[in-house]
Amino acid sequence: MKAVRVHAWGEAPVLETVSVVHPREGHSIVRVEAASVGHLDRTIWRGEFLRPPPLPYVPGVEGSGIVEQGAPLAPGTRVWFRGGGLGTQGDGTWRERCSVPDAILAPLPEGVPFDAAASFFSPCTSAWVALHDVGGLRVGERVLVSGAAGAVGSIACQLALDAGAQVLGAVGDPERIPHLVDGVQPLVVARDAPRTPDGVAADLLIDTVGGPTLAALLPAVAPGGRAVLVGYLGGAQLALDLARFIQRDVALLPLNMLRREAAGRAAAPGLLARIAAGTLRVERRRFDFSDAATALDWLGRPDHRGRAVLQWSR
Ligand SMILES: NC(=O)c1ccc[n+]([C@@H]2O[C@H](COP(=O)([O-])OP(=O)(O)OC[C@H]3O[C@@H](n4cnc5c(N)ncnc54)[C@H](OP(=O)(O)O)[C@@H]3O)[C@@H](O)[C@H]2O)c1
Repeated sequence: MKAVRVHAWGEAPVLETVSVVHPREGHSIVRVEAASVGHLDRTIWRGEFLRPPPLPYVPGVEGSGIVEQGAPLAPGTRVWFRGGGLGTQGDGTWRERCSVPDAILAPLPEGVPFDAAASFFSPCTSAWVALHDVGGLRVGERVLVSGAAGAVGSIACQLALDAGAQVLGAVGDPERIPHLVDGVQPLVVARDAPRTPDGVAADLLIDTVGGPTLAALLPAVAPGGRAVLVGYLGGAQLALDLARFIQRDVALLPLNMLRREAAGRAAAPGLLARIAAGTLRVERRRFDFSDAATALDWLGRPDHRGRAVLQWSR
């Protein structure tokens, strides 16, 4: 059986032959059709995860495939899965066959392709929970999204428009404007030297970039508004003028999807239904499992778009 394995932190992973997986109590054997490559996979692979799995390890926290053996879902069922320690506490999804805890297996609706199923959870549920559970979005509000052409940002734009919001999408480079979702008003906030845009008074900011971009966009939220911090690819520090912060009275709220996993899981069926209906699109680029190193590299580049998904060239 083939699997992609990492032998040293930050070293290119290699596709190699590993021992077969055997059936275990409370687990099903799934033939993996697709596995996503996300920022969490990169963090673990670089050895920056607080409690990393023992080396060598098979990365991959999310995947999709077909049940081959198992009790709760019949063999032949198309499924998606994530969590349960896959790729975080031990071997993950970047393999031909995976032993998946039954508790995290979910059937895949018709009309959702395997590559979308493997990559939808993190960006879609993060965007949903940021907008609704944390951000408290109301119909007709003005929503400003940073990193709006990115994975979470683009989904946040689609879901906010769908919820009846007016959406302003900030990008770090004018070249990203053509990648914004239709209906989004573009705004360039230079990645290298972000400045507060004139004349913007959003009710809700969804910030996926952090650092100086967040500092520049906070004053673009109207007094009494909310700002949800999703990520900090643009910088992990924020300098605040506390007097202004109090005067403006904007609630800065963190999104922590590890703590909000249950809310993400609750939103997943509705999000998959939208994907199946073609009303929600997850941007993704496919790589062969043998190209996992290239996929990790691509995801680390500021100009990448969406998620990387590994698939087998059968
Ligand atoms: N808090 C949580 O629970 C949670 C959940 C999911 C994701 N996240 C985090 O949220 C962030 C966004 O996720 P995503 O999947 O949307 O990411 P993404 O698509 O890779 O990037 C989002 C945006 O960040 C900017 N960017 C990307 N790489 C950059 C770099 N090296 N330096 C500066 N800016 C960069 C880009 O915007 P421009 O091109 O417009 O500059 C990009 O569109 C990530 O940090 C991810 O780890 C957090």
